[in-house]
Amino acid sequence: MANMEPSARLAALPRYLFAELERKRAEAEAAGREVLDLSIGDPDLPTPAPILDRMAQAARDKANHRYPSSAGMPAARAEIATWFGGRFGVTLDPKRETAMLIGSKEGIGHFPLAFLNPGDEVLVPDPGYPVYAAGAVFAGATPVRYPLREASGFVPEIRELDRRVTGRTRLVWVNYPNNPTGAVAPPSFYEEIAAWAVKRDLVIASDAAYSELYYDEPPPSLLQVAATRDRAIEFHSFSKTFNMTGWRLGFAAGAAPLIDLLVRFKANVDSGAPQATQIAAAWGLAGLPAHGPALRGVYRERRDAALDGLRRLGCPVRTPGGAFFVWGRVPEGERALDFVSRVFESTGVLLTPGTGFGDEGEGYFRVSLTSSVDTIRRALEKLEGLTPWRTPDVSASAAIR
Ligand SMILES: Cc1ncc(COP(=O)(O)O)c(C=O)c1O
Repeated sequence: MANMEPSARLAALPRYLFAELERKRAEAEAAGREVLDLSIGDPDLPTPAPILDRMAQAARDKANHRYPSSAGMPAARAEIATWFGGRFGVTLDPKRETAMLIGSKEGIGHFPLAFLNPGDEVLVPDPGYPVYAAGAVFAGATPVRYPLREASGFVPEIRELDRRVTGRTRLVWVNYPNNPTGAVAPPSFYEEIAAWAVKRDLVIASDAAYSELYYDEPPPSLLQVAATRDRAIEFHSFSKTFNMTGWRLGFAAGAAPLIDLLVRFKANVDSGAPQATQIAAAWGLAGLPAHGPALRGVYRERRDAALDGLRRLGCPVRTPGGAFFVWGRVPEGERALDFVSRVFESTGVLLTPGTGFGDEGEGYFRVSLTSSVDTIRRALEKLEGLTPWRTPDVSASAAIR
């Protein structure tokens, strides 16, 4: 029998957390139990009808039935550059400074393979989206985790980054609005990290997949800081902005040499995102001023229901400033995975353990706001009686910045 062991790099990774949660859920459902899933961050709302109509029209055009280019359609990238200019005040050359992606995850996962060598080191947030570390591992590089701490609003402290830099460090990842904590970074943070990256001669990769999901001020782009223009790449997504996770579309923007590396890599492993999707989504950006507030309104209502439910239980939780997650603290003395398992076994409510995002997630769990207000309320009510948080936390704490 042929050797079917996984590659050493694949074996080095834990099983993808969400695949495990899917399995738990499927097992319970097969046994006839009701599952209230607050774990996976996958929008329950439909893609806006005008985008679907535009996509259907483009799908019927046979020009869109052939292979797309790995970099993306020039017209779609031009529309992205126009939107980027209006939203962030940043001028992008669509041809050299943008590339379409098959979802931002594809670009986030592939960029390290285009940029890093075995032995290189990459600074990744902990807790953080697991793909930053996975991409490094696949490239033979070493992910070096830096902490995101509640006391600092889950925004990296430069001295913590500095402590972890070596002569082999080449890349640092940042992600705001943040998954899993819901934190947003102030514009001053991007100034600070840019100055630091210049000093250390590092490239910065910014994951802005949730840039349009915010509750107060629109979050900035890292590319607004002039010093990043020759050393940063930013990843954006249509998934959350337009409830399009299933269509798989995102884009990268940033320094032309970094975009070029990514596109050269992509040309070897994929053949670009479907054109009908590119046409419809890029066109949809023009409608964002109308769609965005309605979408954010839905998430605000869900966020407030989740905060209210958790605080009633006495769970210490801070108000998220962006993304569609609430990051709560598990009862004192209990481990995140034990808490989440206990809650699931006794109530059928599925939460995500903080440790799924790194060791610094110990002591936390994540609630995803991708279910209705009714489901969120019902799920949190089911937690009553089995969650011995010590002191009811009724304070409406300030938004995480
Ligand atoms: C922080 C973060 N970045 C990127 C992604 C990937 O999104 P997509 O590939 O759908 O664009 C996700 C998805 O959950 C995410 O949470």
